[in-house]
Amino acid sequence: MSDTTIESILHEQRLFQPAPEFSQGATVNSLAAYEELYAKAAADPAAFWGELAQQELHWFKPWKQVLDWSNPPFAKWFDGGKINISYNCLDRHLTTDRRNKPALVWEGEPGDSRTLTYFELHQEVCQMANTLLKLGVVKGDRVAIYMPMIPEAATAMLACARIGAVHTVIFGGFSAEAVRDRLNAGEVKLVITADGGWRKDAIVPLKLQVDNAIADSACPSVAKILVVQRTKQETAMVANRDHWWHEEQATASTDCPAAELDAEDLLFILYTSGSTGKPKGVVHTTGGYNLYTHMTTKWIFDIKDSDVYWCTADVGWITGHSYIVYGPLSNGATTVMYEGAPRPSNPGCFWDVIEKYKVTIFYTAPTAIRTFIKMGEEIPNTRDMSSLRLLGTVGEPINPEAWMWYHRVIGKERCPIVDTWWQTETGGIMITPLPGAIATKPGSATRPFPGIIADVVDLDGQPVPRNTGGYLVVRHPWPGMMRTVYGEPDRFCTTYWEHIAPIDGKYLYFAGDGARQDEDGYFWVMGRIDDVINVSGHRLGTMEVESALVSHPAVAEAAVVGKPDDLKGEEIVAFITLEHTFTASDALIKELKQHVGKEIGAIARPGDIRFTDSLPKTRSGKIMRRLLRTIAAGEEITGDTSTLEDRSVLDRLRQDT
Ligand code: WT7
Repeated sequence: MSDTTIESILHEQRLFQPAPEFSQGATVNSLAAYEELYAKAAADPAAFWGELAQQELHWFKPWKQVLDWSNPPFAKWFDGGKINISYNCLDRHLTTDRRNKPALVWEGEPGDSRTLTYFELHQEVCQMANTLLKLGVVKGDRVAIYMPMIPEAATAMLACARIGAVHTVIFGGFSAEAVRDRLNAGEVKLVITADGGWRKDAIVPLKLQVDNAIADSACPSVAKILVVQRTKQETAMVANRDHWWHEEQATASTDCPAAELDAEDLLFILYTSGSTGKPKGVVHTTGGYNLYTHMTTKWIFDIKDSDVYWCTADVGWITGHSYIVYGPLSNGATTVMYEGAPRPSNPGCFWDVIEKYKVTIFYTAPTAIRTFIKMGEEIPNTRDMSSLRLLGTVGEPINPEAWMWYHRVIGKERCPIVDTWWQTETGGIMITPLPGAIATKPGSATRPFPGIIADVVDLDGQPVPRNTGGYLVVRHPWPGMMRTVYGEPDRFCTTYWEHIAPIDGKYLYFAGDGARQDEDGYFWVMGRIDDVINVSGHRLGTMEVESALVSHPAVAEAAVVGKPDDLKGEEIVAFITLEHTFTASDALIKELKQHVGKEIGAIARPGDIRFTDSLPKTRSGKIMRRLLRTIAAGEEITGDTSTLEDRSVLDRLRQDT
C-alpha cells in the first residue's frame, strides 16, 4: 500500500450511517440487534451456532456435539451429524416457491446466456453426480475442476458434493505446470474441464492444457477426463479416458439422492499461496462450511427472495466457492455468473450485466473498482443501475478514494458498502459491516461477524492498545475455519497456530495480516505481514515465483518482492542474478516474464525484472527482502542494516535501478 493510502486511512474520519430505508427491511436491522447477536455468540458460541444450524439447515441426522476442540488446533464441528450441502443448496428448495425460481443466471462472454431454475439445476447436478459415479468416482475421491466461468463449473462442484467426492477447483488462468502440481498434490482421479474458455477476447484451450499437464504419465492418479463443449474448436479425445460432458449427461438419470455425509467429511481442497514452499491445500469440510457460508450470506448480503445477487469473482478462488455457489444457493437466492471481464474492448460490460439482469447486490474487488475509476464515470453513468441496493468489496484493503467513488458513482450514495475481510482459510467473511446495522468508514472492514472473536495482538499474543498496529488474530474457532492443510497437518499447525504460542492452552488463529483497531473498535486491515504478495486480489507466494524464475537456465538467484501499484494494489518485482554465461537484455526480461507465466500462470508474471550482480543477504545467507522492498518502491533505506553481509551491494542496487 502506498504512503498516501496509509496516510488517508490513518486520518479517515467519515462515518456513513446505514440508511433508515435499508435498515428497516434488513434482517439485522440496528446496531443494537448486531450487538445482541454478537454478545450472545461470544457468551456461548456452541449454543449460538447449534441453534442456527438447526434453524437454517437440513440435517439427515442431528449432531452429538456442536464443537469438539479437545485436540486443538484440529476442530470438529457438528460431529456425528449427517448432512449434504448439495441437498441444502437444491433439494430443499424444490418443495417451496423457489422450485421454478432462477438459481443460476449466466452471461457468457460472446453474449450467449442461460438461466437455470432450482428445478433445472437440481436435475443437471443429479445427472452429473450419476455420471461421476458411472466413471468410477466414489466418496472421498478427489475431482479437479479446471473450468471457465460457465454454469457447468457450479454443477460440477455440487455434483461432487452430492456424492461425497472432494472437489479441488483449479483457477482457469493457471498454466499446465501449475495444474500438474495440483493434480499430483491431491492425487486427483478425475478432471472436469472444457474444450476452451474465453479470457479477454481470446480462447484458452483448457483441455489441451490438461493433456499437457498429464503427458508422459506425469499424473498417474488421473484416470478420466470429462470435457464440456464450450468453444467447439478441434479437441483431441483419448478413447476410454476422455468423455464429453454433454454425451454423458444425455443418458444419465436425473435421480440421484444426496449422500448422507458426516459433517466433517471433506467438501473441498483449494490451493492457496503461502510465504514458504508450494501452495497449501486448504481443507474445508461439509457441515461447518455450509452453516458459515449460509449465515454470512444471509446477514452480510441481507439476501431476500427478490434479490438478484452478483459476485464477480472466479469460481477458481474461495470467493467463488463461498459467495457464487454455496452461500447464495443454500439461501435459495438467484446468483449471477459472468464469463467475461472488463477490458479496453468492453469497459462497460459489468454495468451492462447489472442493467440487463437488474442486479440488486453487487460484490467485487477493489482492483476492479480502481480500473473503473481510470476508465471514467461516464461509462457507468450511461447505464440504468437503479436496481442496486447493496455493494460489497473483497480481496485487499480498499483505499478510501476508491471506496468513495464506489459509493458515489455506483451506489449513488444510496447503497451501503460491505468491505469484507476474510481468507481462503477462513471459509467465509470474518470482519465486515452488517449493512443495516453498522455505520461504515471508508477503508475499514469495521467489526467482526457474530461468533468471530477477532483481536489485534503483539507476538506474545497480548492485545495492543487502540490505534496501534499489530497482528490480526481470531481467538475462538468458528464453523467455516479450515480444518487442516491437505496431507500436511504439521504445516497447518506451524503456519496458523504457532507464530503466537498458545496462552494457557488457548490457541490463537494467526491470519498473516497486519491491522489496527481504532477508538470505536473498528478494524483497519493493512495487508500481509509475510512474504505473500497481493496482486489484484490474488495471493502469490514470493517463493513460488522465485522457484519459477530459478528453473530458467539463465537465472542463478532470484528474490521477489511486492511494490505498491495504483491499480493492482501490488506488483511483482524480481531481482535476479544471472548465470555467468548469460547477459542481461530486454529480450531476456521478456523471456523470463513468459517463463513465469508458463510455470504458474499470467497472474504471477513479474511486472518488473531487475538484474543485479548480487542480492543483499544476512551473514547467514538469508535474503533481506525488507531492503529489496524499499528499493523496489524507490524509497530511501532507513532502519537497521547492520546484519547485512556486504553493504556495497546496496549502493550497487540503487545505482542499477
Ligand atoms: C488475503 C486473503 C477472501 C477472499 C479473497 C482473497 C487480503 C482480503 C480483504 C479486505 C483488507 C483483505 C488479506 C487476506 N484481504 N479481503 N476486505 N481488506 N485485506 O482470499 O486469496 O485467501 O487472500 O486477502 O491480506 O489475508 P485469499
